[in-house]
Amino acid sequence: MTLQELEQGQAASLAEIAAAQDAATIEQLRVKYVGRNGSIPALIKGMKDVPKEERPAFGKAVQAWKAAVEEALAGKSAAPAAGASSTLDATLPGRWFEPGVEHPLSRVIEETARIFGHLGFTVADGPDIENRFNNFTALNTPPHHPSQDRRDTFWLETPAFKGEKGTPEDLLLRTQTSPVQIRTMMANKPPVRVICPGRTYRRDTTDATHSANFHQIEGLYCDTKPVSLADLKSVLAYFAKEMMGDSVTVRFRPHFFPFTEPSVEVDFSCHVCKGKGCNVCKQSGWIEVAGAGMVDPRVFKFVGWDPETVSGYAFGFGVERIAMIKYGIPDIRWLYENDVRFLNQLA
Ligand code: DAH
Repeated sequence: MTLQELEQGQAASLAEIAAAQDAATIEQLRVKYVGRNGSIPALIKGMKDVPKEERPAFGKAVQAWKAAVEEALAGKSAAPAAGASSTLDATLPGRWFEPGVEHPLSRVIEETARIFGHLGFTVADGPDIENRFNNFTALNTPPHHPSQDRRDTFWLETPAFKGEKGTPEDLLLRTQTSPVQIRTMMANKPPVRVICPGRTYRRDTTDATHSANFHQIEGLYCDTKPVSLADLKSVLAYFAKEMMGDSVTVRFRPHFFPFTEPSVEVDFSCHVCKGKGCNVCKQSGWIEVAGAGMVDPRVFKFVGWDPETVSGYAFGFGVERIAMIKYGIPDIRWLYENDVRFLNQLA
């Protein structure tokens, strides 16, 4: 083949590639020219038969042809001609990963930690699997109390478990975050100031307002200086305003809990109707949000603190409850389904 023939061959091959309309044709041309048995590798193999003095120029021309063909093929597959069939559609929008939003339950917990943080409270933690002592006994809850019943509490039926009235070491899924109070008192000396958010478990049938697995935030404040119910009320009033808005006030209703004396239930004035009565507060103007009270002296005895020299208050909020009234969520199950259409509305 002469140099001139080489040039003609190159021009013809480039024209063929330029005219190719689809990926299959481009592939055929690649095989034809630069494939293992293609015509350009054949020319390179045949170089030994070219007269010695012509070889450098011939070799240069063949290499130039090969490079030109490869470049033309590469250009073709990167930008297919308009109308050519291809699996790549450069007109489609790119993939967009949406940033996540913080879950409403996490937001309530974070916000509560922030508010109580301003008052000097730190966050304490405890395990979901508790023992009877921390969850019931030390909280002054006797074995015959209905909350210890199998129908209410998830006992872990280990070989050692002899039933609801067994030993202080018996294990269960904690029914409240109050056992973290016990852990905190046993591990520290007064004063203590903690909140303890976490998961809790009860044998409840799920419906719009109940779940067998929900969240609470416990609070505990103890000191060797006298602590009063008025202190508790002022702290919860501050929390109510920070969490729900400036117009919200708190009221205490007498109640009973085994681990506090006196005990109260805590209501916030309805943040939606400002206390006038609406669907959210069931026309009462008030919404129940927590249980609370002054730590019972018997609890101090259980943890080895002297009730004569220590006093304190405790409270326990339902996290779902606060989230539902704060964000106007009518069904507790929405909080667990992780439907992004729901979560995005709270972004
Ligand atoms: N543990 C209680 C419950 O689950 C709530 C509660 C009431 C917590 C009074 C407290 C308290 O710390 O003092 O219903």
